[in-house]
Amino acid sequence: MCGIVGYIGTKKACPILLVGLSRLEYRGYDSAGISTIEKDGLSLVKDKGRVKVLESNQEIEKLDGTIGIAHTRWATHGKPSKENSHPHQDNSKTFSVVHNGIIENYHELRNMLEQNGYNFLSQTDTEVIPNLIHYYFTKNQDSSVHGFLQAVRDCCLSLKGSFALEIISKLFPENMIVVRKDSPLVIGTCEDEKYISSDIPAILSYTRDFYLLNDLEFALLKNTEAKFYDTDLNEIDKRTSSIEWTATASEKNGYDDFMLKEIYEQPTAIRETLGAKISLNSKCNFDELKFTKEYLSNIEKIYIIACGTAMHAGLAGKNVIEKLCRIPVEVDIASEFRYRDPIINEKTLSIFISQSGETADTIAALKLAKASGSKTLAISNVIGSSITREADYSIYTHAGPEIAVASTKAYTSQVVLLNMLAVYFSEILENQPLDVINKIKQEMLDLPKKITKTFKCKNEIKAFAKKIYQEKDVFFLGRGIDETVAKEGSLKLKEISYIHSESYAAGELKHGSIALIENGVTVISVLMDKALIEKSISNIQEVISRGAKTLVVTSHDCDENMFDKVIKVPDTITYLSPIIAIIPLQLLAYYISKEKGLDVDKPRNLAKSVTVE
Ligand code: M6R
Repeated sequence: MCGIVGYIGTKKACPILLVGLSRLEYRGYDSAGISTIEKDGLSLVKDKGRVKVLESNQEIEKLDGTIGIAHTRWATHGKPSKENSHPHQDNSKTFSVVHNGIIENYHELRNMLEQNGYNFLSQTDTEVIPNLIHYYFTKNQDSSVHGFLQAVRDCCLSLKGSFALEIISKLFPENMIVVRKDSPLVIGTCEDEKYISSDIPAILSYTRDFYLLNDLEFALLKNTEAKFYDTDLNEIDKRTSSIEWTATASEKNGYDDFMLKEIYEQPTAIRETLGAKISLNSKCNFDELKFTKEYLSNIEKIYIIACGTAMHAGLAGKNVIEKLCRIPVEVDIASEFRYRDPIINEKTLSIFISQSGETADTIAALKLAKASGSKTLAISNVIGSSITREADYSIYTHAGPEIAVASTKAYTSQVVLLNMLAVYFSEILENQPLDVINKIKQEMLDLPKKITKTFKCKNEIKAFAKKIYQEKDVFFLGRGIDETVAKEGSLKLKEISYIHSESYAAGELKHGSIALIENGVTVISVLMDKALIEKSISNIQEVISRGAKTLVVTSHDCDENMFDKVIKVPDTITYLSPIIAIIPLQLLAYYISKEKGLDVDKPRNLAKSVTVE
């Protein structure tokens, strides 16, 4: 949460920082601020509210500096206010700092600094950082740029928690120091400019060459130079990585909202994720994975660990992996997995799914699994993201940048990638007939065109959204794999429309929750699994007879008169059905949110990347 951006180059920093902040606003948007190095010292302009408020601040126009740092906030410590906004400075206004993450021991550090005469102006955890840097800088008595670096290093070694930091000082008008630990940060580089950001898309229009920092690596930047150091301040060699994404992939390109654009990008995202890995004539090709028949045959359990939508993709993946590979799969929420003392050993394979690759709980769960002897496999949409750097193996969805807070194309790409993985494992295990495997492959290859056909339901969905947008509660039902779609549909609805919604295994409803069904309540059911359709219809009858309004998403023929609305979608195999069935539910959430006049891409209280635990 929180977005940070930095610039060090030959142009005025402020306009570049403002553009960067507006692109990072999805990470937090309750306050924003900038600090640049000016002729007479460090500037500081910040305020409560969105980046637009900062842009309209008259002080902004006075900023001429070519080095600057900026921040858009998602409040953790202290309410949104000018004082709590970043950047923060030390008492002598020598250092300006922006921070993304949480400092867990800030109370103790604040007490120590107060005892040493430092005052605090905000309620944030971050304000200890510039003061601590000042404390060490003065204590170490080295006023060279190496002394600056050393003070930042000493400060960072005192911090517990997570942080991505950009630091500038009026004493070093040509430099910026950046460092990260368990929070994302990338450094884009051109000949005489450096761009720093919490994510790649925000600075893609300037460069495609990036330095990726590991935990506690320090970058000492000048416009023409980037030097990297470990915690002993030994210089380390670092190469750039080139990113394939284009700058236009991070623009709305004529769509009203990123979410709608990303929904419509799903055929391309699936096609790119399939890439050249799937073909009917050869085995599924994951060169980057080195799994052997012996290893896979000895696996006793697979864990799939993730949060939110990525976890829902994991539930769909469990279905296909268990059916094809006959290995038990347990899916867990990362924040729960970590604290329940899970049984992990070298006979467990742990798969971690994260669009951003920066979700704090997923990273922590990965570290736990690795330390317990499990092999770890990361699935991410962001090349070089933290989970991919921690894991033994990494594979990627190629969905392109996902900007809207509500995940859409990342989810469907994750489901298809898990299907590909299941096929890959099964081919190594040699445990499924060729026609079974070829059928799945053919259905995967057909997905882009089937998703495009599914978009035809748009107007029906829009009309249904108009009917129900003022509802207070909506229920989602499904059985088997359809329940996983119900869960995802329900999450989409609540996060962007603020309508309370629950999802249930259809057969479970009568064990208590059916008490909530009353006249006029909307119940949305997913009926894709042919084997379970009769049973699910019986459950829908139970809610209809208690007065529910019903919407059904199905690829099968059914008595349409029975329901208030039936959305017919193309048929596919059960394993892949979540990819088709979720499309109408994504569109429904989108149009309800629009109908209510809400900010679809930046729903309240949420941030795209949850980098705090
Ligand atoms: O970046 P990640 O995939 O790790 O993010 C996990 C969740 O925070 C994310 O899927 C969240 O649930 C989405 N906003 C849902 O649309």
